Amino acid sequence: MVDGLLQVEGGRPLTGEITVRGAKNLVPKAMVAALLGTTASVLRNVPGIRDVEVVSGLLRLHGVAIEYDEQEGVLGLDPSRVESAHVADIDAHAGSSRIPILFCGPLLHRLGEAFIPDLGGCRIGDRPIDFHLDILRTFGATVDKQSQGIRLTAPSGLHGAVIELPYPSVGATEQTLLTAVRARGLTELRGAAVEPEIMDLVDVLQKMGAIISVDTDRTIHIEGVDELVGYHHVALPDRIETASWASAALATGGNVLVRGAHQSDMTTFLNVFRKVGGAFDVREDGIRFWHPGGDLKSLVVETNVHPGFMTDWQQPLVVALTQAQGLSIVHETVYENRFGFTHALCQMGAQIQVYRECLGGASCRFGQRNFYHSAVISGPTPLHGADIEVPDLRGGFSHLIAALAAEGTSRVEGINLIDRGYESFMSKLKALDADVTRLA
Ligand code: EPZ
Repeated sequence: MVDGLLQVEGGRPLTGEITVRGAKNLVPKAMVAALLGTTASVLRNVPGIRDVEVVSGLLRLHGVAIEYDEQEGVLGLDPSRVESAHVADIDAHAGSSRIPILFCGPLLHRLGEAFIPDLGGCRIGDRPIDFHLDILRTFGATVDKQSQGIRLTAPSGLHGAVIELPYPSVGATEQTLLTAVRARGLTELRGAAVEPEIMDLVDVLQKMGAIISVDTDRTIHIEGVDELVGYHHVALPDRIETASWASAALATGGNVLVRGAHQSDMTTFLNVFRKVGGAFDVREDGIRFWHPGGDLKSLVVETNVHPGFMTDWQQPLVVALTQAQGLSIVHETVYENRFGFTHALCQMGAQIQVYRECLGGASCRFGQRNFYHSAVISGPTPLHGADIEVPDLRGGFSHLIAALAAEGTSRVEGINLIDRGYESFMSKLKALDADVTRLA
């Protein structure tokens, strides 16, 4: 069954303005955090994306009352009647999201038990949850792997812990925060992730009554408290979506104002965007990105945890690099299998080769293993339309950008996946004067 089919007449610059709302990688986590409160919470700047729908469904299953005004972007959550959900319903609802694993701590605090179905998420690597399960055991939970998922209990409640992350995992950091804030005693998390979305979650939890501090060496200290109350919070804007539209402006020779974008969350991206030859103007209401003319310049970029160049920024940027003069190198050090999307770009005329070696930077975790995690892009190469299939969320948006940049007609299959992380992307494309037609 075709999961959404889009016809794109490429070769036209994207010009106009769009608005980006709350970050996909914060909003669902703040929604789960509301479970920890004894009173209602209100989250603003909430985008109408699939991940918000999925997490709303899971929260409702557990008795949380949810009201969402999509026009205003306001989400009300009342967790005063939290109760256990039925396993089969949870499994049906979890869908392709990875967020369910973050329900563990809050449900164990509220109900003493939790069931988490097997997780989804993009096919960009193994996506293990070993860090998460080890963390929950360290807090005192029992973890029982069953056929459909994982059952957790905490008969004597949860207590503070000292946790050392083998890798600064965003999800594992969130798992620790959402569990430690109501655990008995002190928790120390060493080697934590400190992405802007993590710091926004810390703000949410602090508003609820939590006591959290973040040291300069990435150690996070949490003092467990007896009660947390609801919060009022405006979610930070989505820096991944902003970078995606910026790369689209560059790849199509366009000019796009992204209302709502924050410079401070995107410093590293903006530096790279400028080095490639893009221009941007930071304004009070957002950031304008455009192609100033002339050649784009090839460069070497290595993805890393914050404040490095974010792994989710490289797929859209690679499309712009196919139009840059010379050889560019991208070394992906966060996920082992994140260049699958380049196959379709080569079908469209790009010259991209992937390598197992760590190219362009220091050696990383994937260097001595069989992962094609470095890419060399030779440009500029004219792109021509093709029939392509969306591999994952961010790769899929890159296919869209490539189809918009290519001369001729492309048909992009599987675009419903893009709804997961890009709010109203069809109306945004129309607002940017793209010639797109939804065929299915
Ligand atoms: C979050 O994923 C984001 N997703 C990802 O965005 C983002 O790319 C990633 O963080 C890195 O910034 C959400 O927030 C929903 P990780 P997460 O745990 O938390 C390994 C998008 O398209 N690892 O930081 O799952 C893992 O294999 C998505 O918006 C373990 O080994 O990422 C990976 O190599 C894509 N064991 C590395 O850590 C674990 O238990 C980073 O993963 C957990 C992670």
